[in-house]
Amino acid sequence: MTTTEPRAVRDHVTPLATGTAAPKPTWHHATVLEHRPEADRYQYLRLHAPTIARTAAAGQFVMLTAARAGERGPVLPRPMAIYRRDAEEGTIEVVYGVVGDGTRKLATFAAGDTMLVVGPLGQGFHLPADTTRLLLVGRGIGTCSLTTVAQDLASGTALTAVASGRTPDAVIGAGFYRDCGAERVITVTDTEGTSGVEHLRGLLLSTLDSAPPQQILTCGSDRLAWLCRQLADRWGAEVQVSLEAHMACGLGYCHGCATGTRGGPEESPLICKDGPVFRLEEA
Ligand SMILES: Cc1cc2nc3c(=O)[nH]c(=O)nc-3n(C[C@H](O)[C@H](O)[C@H](O)COP(=O)(O)OP(=O)(O)OC[C@H]3O[C@@H](n4cnc5c(N)ncnc54)[C@H](O)[C@@H]3O)c2cc1C
Ligand code: FES
Repeated sequence: MTTTEPRAVRDHVTPLATGTAAPKPTWHHATVLEHRPEADRYQYLRLHAPTIARTAAAGQFVMLTAARAGERGPVLPRPMAIYRRDAEEGTIEVVYGVVGDGTRKLATFAAGDTMLVVGPLGQGFHLPADTTRLLLVGRGIGTCSLTTVAQDLASGTALTAVASGRTPDAVIGAGFYRDCGAERVITVTDTEGTSGVEHLRGLLLSTLDSAPPQQILTCGSDRLAWLCRQLADRWGAEVQVSLEAHMACGLGYCHGCATGTRGGPEESPLICKDGPVFRLEEA
């Protein structure tokens, strides 16, 4: 196994062939039910969006419009993973980092305000029915794309979840994974010196080599995605990776989110429509 891997993951993905159509997107003028700072530098947002809450599959996302009614900008909505959804309450939850104009504007919405939300969007993760051992590997805010998989965990599926972050405060999802019944939750951080690829490789080999996962799902780091691929080659597992991109429409119209994957006459897959979840090709 090599220890460094310079290749961009998005150049080595193929769309998942699930055989099932993704749920149809809809839109809501959703009421903001809760909005507050969460750990480190993140924001937690809970919205009333009943149709999206009822239909969203694990790994799908929404487009949030930061401009309020009557305002001219920011014009484009911003893509955000669905962190958790509750079909009974009709709510969806999002955890996001404030990094630029759009997310700065999103952070100004207060409980009681209305936000335009479109979703659920994209192709989510696909777990074959015979999956009994599952590994999730998330880094930073990328973990938000994996948590709905844990929410849907079938009884009898043993889940190991890795949550990696810059600092202990920046680790997302560890408590949520435990609440969802994960067998094992591994948190690693830069500040504690535990998040390096080699350290994590050793941890995962020592804990999972005797009963390895059949599916490995990952998001948030190319380095970790390639580690997943290398472990999957050893274990005969499949790797699904959720990719990020700047998105203008989120619906497959603008082609601004093409993966850039080359190799055939076809157009390269779109992250918003053919993904964001793709199969990571074997090394
Ligand atoms: C499917 C999907 C799900 C996502 N889920 C989440 C989530 O759950 N929580 C969350 O915090 N963020 C998530 N993102 C990223 C989020 O959409 C961006 O952070 C957001 O659009 C930034 O908007 P902005 O106007 O604040 O920043 P901008 O002004 O657009 O950008 C600020 C900085 O962030 C960089 N940036 C912006 N978007 C991306 C991106 N997609 N990938 C890499 N760098 C980027 C820019 O290059 C720039 O340096 C997701 C993206 C996708 C495609
Ligand atoms: S964001 Fe417009 S096609 Fe993907």
